[in-house]
Amino acid sequence: MESEKKNKSTFSSTFGFVIAAAGSAVGLGNIWRFPYLAAKDGGGLFLLVYLIFALTFGFTLLITEVGIGRKTKSSPLTVYGKLSKNWKFLGFLASLVPAVILPYYCVIGGWVIQYFIVFLFGNGGLAASDVYFTQFISANINPLITMLLFLALTTYIIIRGVNKGIESLSKILMPILFVLIIIIAGFSLSLHFTDSDGITRTGIEGLMIYLIPNFDGLTLSKFFRILVDAMGQLFFSLSVAMGIMITYGSYMKKDSNLSKSVNQIEIFDTLVAFLAGVMIIPAVYTFSGTEGLSSSGPGLLFVTMPKIFAAMGPIGGVIGLIFFAMVLFAALTSSISIMEAVVSCLMDRFNHDRLKATMIVAVMALVFGTIVCLGYNSLYFELTLPNGTVGQILDLFDYISNSVLMPLVSIGTCLLIGWKVSPNSVIEEVEQPGIKMGRKRLYIVMIKYIAPVLLFILLLSSFGII
Ligand code: PFF
Repeated sequence: MESEKKNKSTFSSTFGFVIAAAGSAVGLGNIWRFPYLAAKDGGGLFLLVYLIFALTFGFTLLITEVGIGRKTKSSPLTVYGKLSKNWKFLGFLASLVPAVILPYYCVIGGWVIQYFIVFLFGNGGLAASDVYFTQFISANINPLITMLLFLALTTYIIIRGVNKGIESLSKILMPILFVLIIIIAGFSLSLHFTDSDGITRTGIEGLMIYLIPNFDGLTLSKFFRILVDAMGQLFFSLSVAMGIMITYGSYMKKDSNLSKSVNQIEIFDTLVAFLAGVMIIPAVYTFSGTEGLSSSGPGLLFVTMPKIFAAMGPIGGVIGLIFFAMVLFAALTSSISIMEAVVSCLMDRFNHDRLKATMIVAVMALVFGTIVCLGYNSLYFELTLPNGTVGQILDLFDYISNSVLMPLVSIGTCLLIGWKVSPNSVIEEVEQPGIKMGRKRLYIVMIKYIAPVLLFILLLSSFGII
């Protein structure tokens, strides 16, 4: 471990990097938000807009972060100061993001563990009751234990290091996750159900709602909303502005093809998000009609889905178990990436070895994670956030990181690279002997002009201004 501090660790291969970064990108966002947004925002129309953004906006942000990470071999905390002395403050903001996200992500990871265990012991039916979720998260001890378990798993992987921990785990979990999603998606499509009014709905009809572009009642303002939703979702889904891609980039070898790797990460992330929709929308539609499609986030995952599994009859217990195993894998490969981002800052800036840095971060996550848990218990309060959501401590943390800090960090990154340092520095980093960067012109225009404007619109929408 001592040697790792001096000779910075690297992924063993380009594939190792791609699978770890894809593991980070594929997370709860793919499962609990993408399908909901797609169903709400006109099905195929949202998918199309999302895809265009992925190839332009997403590509630009992702390749910039991986590029500056590899170029400077630095953590998010120090990278900006190395690129330009006066921009050190951006490193501070950038490393704050994963530090704020980690504790509450572990709390949610704990909820996933709880549901996985409930289904494992064949008690999925319990989780289908209306009050189960609220009772569980507001209990005294259980949410703390499951959070601790999830944090301990994440910590263990990080202590094992980049190759033996992050890379090895991602190589095992990601293929399994993919197979599990395909299994559930296939099952969802085969469903049919006749409700008490004698109306029969099928999974295939649900799939049509998801895929066919719906232009009904499409106004300019609704189209604008779709654009903002797609952009926000993409931004979160690619794990940019969280320090993660800078960190993973810094572990990448010079002879790896960055352009190609970034494309592969995007394709995989989008494919999994798309398949999550094929898995969830037909199932929810079959059993609860279009009204069932109106929830996202924890409500969808922990309230709606258990009800759907219960409605499936005896096989629902097995499908529910596979489903929560899959969600757990997605959450774990994301949480390790967010913890690694913080750990790399401590190793880089304070010269701590991996074990010490990881333990410091774990204790910090434990303290703040406990506070987040208590937000549903003794520290309960209702807070209205500027974007209109009413929430608890978890929502406050989430708002600070996702809605305020992340757009700010990303705007800063675009301005620094686009105007101060020069986009060519990233292009030169991507272009190594025998490796050319595609979409160069597009990249320059995006990073200088379009991406900062889009991010600014995103920021305004988080403040509830537009
Ligand atoms: N890309 C992840 C997702 O879609 O869920 C975002 C993420 C969140 C990554 C939290 C890492 C993390 F800890």
